[in-house]
Amino acid sequence: GRARLPNVTTAPRTTAMSAGFPNIRLRRTRASTWSRALHREVLVTPADLIWPLFVTEGHGVEDPIGSLPGVSRWSVDLVAERARDAVAAGIPCIALFPNTQPDRRSEDGQEALNPDNLMCRAIKAIKDACGESLGVLTDVALDPYTSHGQDGLIDDDGYVLNDATVEVLVGQSLNQAAAGADIIAPSDMMDGRIGAIRDALEGAGHINVQIMAYAAKYASAFYGPFRDAVGSRGLLKGNKKTYHMDPGNAEEALREVELDIAEGADSVMVKPGLPYLDIALRVKEAFQVPVFAYQVSGEYAMIEAAAAAGAGDRDALVLETLLAFKRAGCSGVLTYHALHAARLMGA
Ligand code: PBG
Repeated sequence: GRARLPNVTTAPRTTAMSAGFPNIRLRRTRASTWSRALHREVLVTPADLIWPLFVTEGHGVEDPIGSLPGVSRWSVDLVAERARDAVAAGIPCIALFPNTQPDRRSEDGQEALNPDNLMCRAIKAIKDACGESLGVLTDVALDPYTSHGQDGLIDDDGYVLNDATVEVLVGQSLNQAAAGADIIAPSDMMDGRIGAIRDALEGAGHINVQIMAYAAKYASAFYGPFRDAVGSRGLLKGNKKTYHMDPGNAEEALREVELDIAEGADSVMVKPGLPYLDIALRVKEAFQVPVFAYQVSGEYAMIEAAAAAGAGDRDALVLETLLAFKRAGCSGVLTYHALHAARLMGA
Protein backbone atom coordinates (compact mmCIF):
# COMPACT_ATOMS: atom_id res chain seq x y z
CA GLY A 1 0.00 0.00 0.00
CA ARG A 2 0.93 3.64 -0.32
CA ALA A 3 1.70 5.53 2.86
CA ARG A 4 0.93 9.19 3.31
CA LEU A 5 3.32 11.13 5.45
CA PRO A 6 1.19 12.62 8.21
CA ASN A 7 1.36 16.37 8.49
CA VAL A 8 2.59 16.76 12.03
CA THR A 9 3.30 20.22 13.33
CA THR A 10 4.23 21.34 16.79
CA ALA A 11 3.82 25.06 16.06
CA PRO A 12 0.94 26.75 17.90
CA ARG A 13 -2.01 27.48 15.68
CA THR A 14 -2.66 31.12 14.99
CA THR A 15 -6.30 32.01 14.59
CA ALA A 16 -7.82 35.26 13.42
CA MET A 17 -10.09 36.98 15.92
CA SER A 18 -13.24 36.27 13.96
CA ALA A 19 -12.31 32.63 13.38
CA GLY A 20 -13.04 31.32 16.85
CA PHE A 21 -16.04 29.43 18.16
CA PRO A 22 -18.83 29.23 17.03
CA ASN A 23 -17.64 30.04 13.50
CA ILE A 24 -15.23 27.19 13.88
CA ARG A 25 -16.89 23.94 14.93
CA LEU A 26 -14.68 20.95 14.22
CA ARG A 27 -17.68 18.69 14.87
CA ARG A 28 -19.37 19.89 11.64
CA THR A 29 -17.36 17.56 9.43
CA ARG A 30 -17.96 14.67 11.86
CA ALA A 31 -21.73 14.99 11.89
CA SER A 32 -22.58 12.38 9.25
CA THR A 33 -21.26 9.17 7.79
CA TRP A 34 -20.66 10.61 4.33
CA SER A 35 -18.76 13.58 5.72
CA ARG A 36 -16.57 11.44 7.96
CA ALA A 37 -15.74 9.30 4.93
CA LEU A 38 -14.93 12.37 2.88
CA HIS A 39 -12.61 13.86 5.49
CA ARG A 40 -10.80 10.71 6.62
CA GLU A 41 -7.07 11.34 6.25
CA VAL A 42 -5.79 7.77 5.95
CA LEU A 43 -7.26 4.45 4.92
CA VAL A 44 -6.23 0.90 5.53
CA THR A 45 -6.93 -1.65 2.78
CA PRO A 46 -6.05 -5.33 2.27
CA ALA A 47 -3.13 -4.13 0.12
CA ASP A 48 -1.52 -2.74 3.29
CA LEU A 49 -1.26 -6.14 4.94
CA ILE A 50 1.41 -8.84 5.18
CA TRP A 51 0.17 -12.11 6.70
CA PRO A 52 2.69 -14.14 8.77
CA LEU A 53 2.24 -17.91 8.44
CA PHE A 54 3.87 -20.75 10.39
CA VAL A 55 4.88 -23.95 8.61
CA THR A 56 5.30 -27.43 10.07
CA GLU A 57 6.21 -30.90 8.72
CA GLY A 58 3.63 -33.42 7.52
CA HIS A 59 0.71 -33.48 5.13
CA GLY A 60 -2.79 -32.19 5.83
CA VAL A 61 -1.64 -30.91 9.21
CA GLU A 62 -3.20 -27.96 11.02
CA ASP A 63 -1.56 -27.53 14.42
CA PRO A 64 -3.17 -24.78 16.57
CA ILE A 65 -0.87 -22.61 18.69
CA GLY A 66 -2.14 -22.36 22.27
CA SER A 67 -0.82 -18.89 23.05
CA LEU A 68 -2.02 -17.52 19.68
CA PRO A 69 -5.73 -18.37 19.62
CA GLY A 70 -6.95 -18.63 16.03
CA VAL A 71 -3.44 -19.07 14.58
CA SER A 72 -2.07 -22.46 13.47
CA ARG A 73 1.03 -24.05 12.06
CA TRP A 74 0.28 -25.52 8.63
CA SER A 75 1.95 -28.29 6.67
CA VAL A 76 3.37 -27.26 3.29
CA ASP A 77 0.31 -28.39 1.30
CA LEU A 78 -2.06 -26.43 3.55
CA VAL A 79 0.12 -23.34 3.77
CA ALA A 80 -0.22 -23.13 -0.01
CA GLU A 81 -4.00 -23.12 0.48
CA ARG A 82 -3.69 -20.30 3.02
CA ALA A 83 -1.62 -18.42 0.43
CA ARG A 84 -4.51 -18.79 -2.02
CA ASP A 85 -6.84 -17.41 0.69
CA ALA A 86 -4.55 -14.40 1.00
CA VAL A 87 -4.71 -13.70 -2.74
CA ALA A 88 -8.49 -14.05 -2.75
CA ALA A 89 -8.74 -11.52 0.10
CA GLY A 90 -6.51 -8.99 -1.67
CA ILE A 91 -3.46 -9.46 0.57
CA PRO A 92 -0.30 -8.84 -1.52
CA CYS A 93 2.31 -10.63 0.59
CA ILE A 94 2.77 -13.36 3.20
CA ALA A 95 5.65 -13.90 5.66
CA LEU A 96 6.92 -17.41 6.38
CA PHE A 97 8.29 -18.93 9.60
CA PRO A 98 9.23 -22.59 10.03
CA ASN A 99 8.74 -24.83 13.05
CA THR A 100 11.84 -26.93 12.42
CA GLN A 101 11.76 -30.53 13.66
CA PRO A 102 13.75 -30.84 16.93
CA ASP A 103 16.21 -33.34 15.40
CA ARG A 104 17.10 -30.82 12.68
CA ARG A 105 18.05 -28.11 15.17
CA SER A 106 21.72 -27.79 16.09
CA GLU A 107 24.21 -25.55 17.86
CA ASP A 108 25.19 -23.95 14.52
CA GLY A 109 21.74 -23.86 12.88
CA GLN A 110 23.04 -25.46 9.65
CA GLU A 111 19.55 -26.58 8.65
CA ALA A 112 18.99 -22.95 7.59
CA LEU A 113 21.33 -23.67 4.65
CA ASN A 114 19.62 -26.87 3.52
CA PRO A 115 18.04 -26.24 0.07
CA ASP A 116 15.36 -28.80 0.91
CA ASN A 117 14.47 -27.46 4.36
CA LEU A 118 10.88 -26.81 5.44
CA MET A 119 11.12 -23.13 4.58
CA CYS A 120 12.35 -23.75 1.02
CA ARG A 121 9.68 -26.37 0.37
CA ALA A 122 7.02 -23.95 1.61
CA ILE A 123 8.36 -21.11 -0.58
CA LYS A 124 8.23 -23.34 -3.66
CA ALA A 125 4.75 -24.66 -2.92
CA ILE A 126 3.41 -21.14 -2.47
CA LYS A 127 5.10 -19.77 -5.59
CA ASP A 128 3.70 -22.76 -7.51
CA ALA A 129 0.21 -22.06 -6.17
CA CYS A 130 0.16 -18.26 -6.49
CA GLY A 131 3.03 -17.14 -8.74
CA GLU A 132 3.14 -13.43 -9.43
CA SER A 133 -0.03 -12.67 -7.53
CA LEU A 134 1.57 -13.06 -4.10
CA GLY A 135 4.86 -11.89 -2.62
CA VAL A 136 6.69 -14.26 -0.30
CA LEU A 137 8.70 -12.64 2.49
CA THR A 138 11.11 -14.89 4.36
CA ASP A 139 12.61 -14.35 7.79
CA VAL A 140 16.38 -14.51 8.01
CA ALA A 141 17.68 -15.41 11.49
CA LEU A 142 18.82 -18.69 13.00
CA ASP A 143 16.41 -19.01 15.95
CA PRO A 144 14.09 -21.59 14.29
CA TYR A 145 17.15 -23.75 13.55
CA THR A 146 19.40 -23.49 16.62
CA SER A 147 19.30 -25.84 19.61
CA HIS A 148 19.73 -22.78 21.89
CA GLY A 149 17.07 -20.54 20.33
CA GLN A 150 19.37 -17.57 19.71
CA ASP A 151 19.25 -15.77 16.34
CA GLY A 152 22.93 -16.45 15.65
CA LEU A 153 26.03 -18.48 16.46
CA ILE A 154 27.18 -18.36 20.10
CA ASP A 155 30.54 -18.60 21.83
CA ASP A 156 31.24 -20.63 24.99
CA ASP A 157 29.66 -17.92 27.14
CA GLY A 158 26.50 -17.85 25.05
CA TYR A 159 27.37 -14.48 23.49
CA VAL A 160 26.00 -14.16 19.96
CA LEU A 161 28.89 -13.68 17.55
CA ASN A 162 28.31 -10.95 15.00
CA ASP A 163 30.59 -11.54 12.01
CA ALA A 164 30.40 -15.34 12.04
CA THR A 165 26.60 -15.10 12.21
CA VAL A 166 26.47 -12.70 9.26
CA GLU A 167 28.27 -15.30 7.13
CA VAL A 168 25.59 -17.88 7.88
CA LEU A 169 22.79 -15.36 7.34
CA VAL A 170 24.21 -14.63 3.88
CA GLY A 171 24.02 -18.34 3.09
CA GLN A 172 20.50 -18.55 4.48
CA SER A 173 19.41 -15.58 2.34
CA LEU A 174 20.86 -17.09 -0.84
CA ASN A 175 19.15 -20.38 0.00
CA GLN A 176 15.77 -18.67 0.37
CA ALA A 177 16.25 -16.55 -2.75
CA ALA A 178 17.14 -19.64 -4.79
CA ALA A 179 13.91 -21.26 -3.59
CA GLY A 180 11.93 -18.26 -4.88
CA ALA A 181 11.64 -15.80 -1.98
CA ASP A 182 10.68 -12.29 -3.10
CA ILE A 183 11.62 -10.34 0.03
CA ILE A 184 14.47 -11.31 2.35
CA ALA A 185 13.75 -10.01 5.84
CA PRO A 186 16.66 -10.27 8.29
CA SER A 187 15.29 -10.18 11.84
CA ASP A 188 18.51 -10.81 13.74
CA MET A 189 19.96 -7.28 14.25
CA MET A 190 23.58 -8.26 13.53
CA ASP A 191 25.70 -5.29 12.43
CA GLY A 192 26.54 -5.17 8.73
CA ARG A 193 24.23 -7.95 7.60
CA ILE A 194 22.18 -5.91 5.16
CA GLY A 195 25.21 -4.91 3.08
CA ALA A 196 26.62 -8.43 3.15
CA ILE A 197 23.29 -9.97 2.07
CA ARG A 198 22.76 -7.33 -0.66
CA ASP A 199 26.23 -7.96 -2.09
CA ALA A 200 25.61 -11.70 -2.14
CA LEU A 201 22.19 -11.36 -3.78
CA GLU A 202 23.64 -9.08 -6.48
CA GLY A 203 26.54 -11.48 -6.99
CA ALA A 204 24.16 -14.39 -7.44
CA GLY A 205 22.00 -12.52 -9.95
CA HIS A 206 19.05 -12.00 -7.58
CA ILE A 207 18.95 -8.33 -8.45
CA ASN A 208 15.18 -7.97 -7.95
CA VAL A 209 14.98 -9.86 -4.68
CA GLN A 210 14.14 -7.18 -2.11
CA ILE A 211 15.43 -6.74 1.40
CA MET A 212 13.07 -5.58 4.14
CA ALA A 213 15.34 -4.93 7.10
CA TYR A 214 14.03 -5.48 10.58
CA ALA A 215 15.94 -2.25 11.18
CA ALA A 216 14.54 -1.17 14.55
CA LYS A 217 13.81 -4.41 16.29
CA TYR A 218 13.57 -4.24 20.05
CA ALA A 219 14.42 -6.78 22.75
CA SER A 220 10.74 -7.09 23.59
CA ALA A 221 8.54 -9.06 25.95
CA PHE A 222 5.89 -9.22 23.20
CA TYR A 223 7.43 -12.13 21.25
CA GLY A 224 6.43 -14.97 23.59
CA PRO A 225 3.67 -16.61 21.52
CA PHE A 226 5.86 -16.46 18.37
CA ARG A 227 8.57 -18.42 20.16
CA ASP A 228 5.93 -21.03 21.02
CA ALA A 229 4.91 -21.10 17.37
CA VAL A 230 8.41 -21.78 16.03
CA GLY A 231 9.30 -23.98 19.01
CA SER A 232 12.19 -21.90 20.35
CA ARG A 233 10.69 -20.70 23.64
CA GLY A 234 11.70 -23.71 25.71
CA LEU A 235 15.18 -23.78 24.15
CA LEU A 236 16.06 -20.13 24.70
CA LYS A 237 18.17 -19.48 27.76
CA GLY A 238 18.38 -15.86 28.80
CA ASN A 239 17.37 -13.12 26.38
CA LYS A 240 18.38 -11.31 23.19
CA LYS A 241 19.41 -8.00 24.74
CA THR A 242 22.99 -8.03 23.38
CA TYR A 243 21.69 -7.68 19.82
CA HIS A 244 18.02 -6.58 19.75
CA MET A 245 17.56 -2.91 20.68
CA ASP A 246 16.90 -1.51 24.13
CA PRO A 247 13.24 -0.43 24.48
CA GLY A 248 14.34 2.92 25.92
CA ASN A 249 16.07 4.05 22.74
CA ALA A 250 14.73 6.08 19.82
CA GLU A 251 17.77 7.94 18.45
CA GLU A 252 19.52 4.62 18.09
CA ALA A 253 16.62 3.38 15.95
CA LEU A 254 17.26 6.23 13.52
CA ARG A 255 20.94 5.23 13.30
CA GLU A 256 19.96 1.60 12.67
CA VAL A 257 17.57 2.64 9.91
CA GLU A 258 20.09 5.01 8.33
CA LEU A 259 22.71 2.25 8.14
CA ASP A 260 20.32 -0.34 6.72
CA ILE A 261 19.18 2.05 4.00
CA ALA A 262 22.80 2.92 3.17
CA GLU A 263 23.61 -0.80 2.97
CA GLY A 264 20.84 -1.41 0.44
CA ALA A 265 17.59 -2.16 2.29
CA ASP A 266 14.54 -1.53 0.08
CA SER A 267 12.27 -1.03 3.07
CA VAL A 268 12.62 -0.98 6.84
CA MET A 269 10.59 -2.44 9.64
CA VAL A 270 9.83 -1.32 13.15
CA LYS A 271 9.01 -4.10 15.62
CA PRO A 272 6.96 -4.50 17.79
CA GLY A 273 4.17 -2.31 16.45
CA LEU A 274 1.80 -0.31 18.62
CA PRO A 275 4.19 0.16 21.59
CA TYR A 276 6.70 1.60 19.10
CA LEU A 277 4.42 3.76 16.93
CA ASP A 278 6.53 6.81 17.83
CA ILE A 279 9.53 5.08 16.26
CA ALA A 280 7.63 4.34 13.04
CA LEU A 281 6.61 7.99 12.70
CA ARG A 282 10.09 9.31 13.48
CA VAL A 283 11.65 6.95 10.95
CA LYS A 284 9.15 7.99 8.27
CA GLU A 285 9.70 11.70 8.96
CA ALA A 286 13.48 11.35 8.99
CA PHE A 287 13.98 9.17 5.90
CA GLN A 288 10.88 9.07 3.64
CA VAL A 289 11.46 5.41 2.84
CA PRO A 290 8.87 2.60 2.95
CA VAL A 291 8.32 1.76 6.63
CA PHE A 292 6.54 -1.36 7.80
CA ALA A 293 5.43 -2.25 11.31
CA TYR A 294 5.18 -5.74 12.75
CA GLN A 295 2.18 -6.06 15.04
CA VAL A 296 3.76 -8.98 16.86
CA SER A 297 2.40 -12.12 18.46
CA GLY A 298 2.04 -10.64 21.96
CA GLU A 299 0.06 -7.73 20.55
CA TYR A 300 -2.23 -10.12 18.68
CA ALA A 301 -2.70 -12.15 21.87
CA MET A 302 -3.55 -9.00 23.84
CA ILE A 303 -6.27 -8.02 21.38
CA GLU A 304 -7.71 -11.53 21.40
CA ALA A 305 -7.64 -11.64 25.22
CA ALA A 306 -9.27 -8.21 25.48
CA ALA A 307 -12.02 -9.22 23.09
CA ALA A 308 -12.55 -12.56 24.85
CA ALA A 309 -12.83 -10.73 28.18
CA GLY A 310 -15.51 -8.45 26.77
CA ALA A 311 -13.26 -5.39 26.97
CA GLY A 312 -13.94 -4.38 23.37
CA ASP A 313 -15.34 -5.45 20.03
CA ARG A 314 -12.76 -7.65 18.30
CA ASP A 315 -13.31 -6.43 14.75
CA ALA A 316 -13.29 -2.78 15.80
CA LEU A 317 -10.13 -3.25 17.87
CA VAL A 318 -8.37 -4.93 14.95
CA LEU A 319 -9.31 -2.29 12.38
CA GLU A 320 -8.51 0.64 14.69
CA THR A 321 -5.01 -0.65 15.46
CA LEU A 322 -4.28 -1.21 11.76
CA LEU A 323 -5.47 2.30 10.90
CA ALA A 324 -3.13 3.66 13.57
CA PHE A 325 -0.12 2.25 11.70
CA LYS A 326 -1.19 3.99 8.51
CA ARG A 327 -1.71 7.25 10.40
CA ALA A 328 1.85 6.92 11.75
CA GLY A 329 3.16 6.81 8.18
CA CYS A 330 3.58 3.07 7.66
CA SER A 331 3.30 1.60 4.17
CA GLY A 332 1.96 -1.61 5.63
CA VAL A 333 1.64 -3.91 8.62
CA LEU A 334 2.61 -7.50 9.34
CA THR A 335 -0.29 -8.85 11.36
CA TYR A 336 -1.71 -12.24 12.32
CA HIS A 337 -5.13 -10.62 11.89
CA ALA A 338 -4.43 -10.01 8.18
CA LEU A 339 -6.87 -12.48 6.64
CA HIS A 340 -9.69 -11.61 9.04
CA ALA A 341 -9.05 -7.87 8.66
CA ALA A 342 -8.86 -8.07 4.85
CA ARG A 343 -12.18 -9.90 4.78
CA LEU A 344 -13.71 -7.26 7.06
CA MET A 345 -12.44 -4.51 4.77
CA GLY A 346 -13.73 -6.26 1.70
CA ALA A 347 -17.19 -6.82 3.18
C1 PBG B 1 13.09 -14.24 14.76
C2 PBG B 1 11.82 -13.50 14.88
C3 PBG B 1 11.06 -13.24 16.04
C4 PBG B 1 9.90 -12.60 15.63
C5 PBG B 1 9.99 -12.46 14.24
N1 PBG B 1 11.19 -13.00 13.81
C6 PBG B 1 11.28 -13.64 17.46
C7 PBG B 1 12.46 -13.14 18.16
O1 PBG B 1 13.21 -12.32 17.66
O2 PBG B 1 12.67 -13.63 19.27
C8 PBG B 1 8.77 -12.19 16.52
C9 PBG B 1 7.44 -12.04 15.85
C10 PBG B 1 6.27 -12.11 16.75
O3 PBG B 1 6.37 -12.07 18.01
O4 PBG B 1 5.15 -12.16 16.23
N2 PBG B 1 14.26 -13.60 15.04
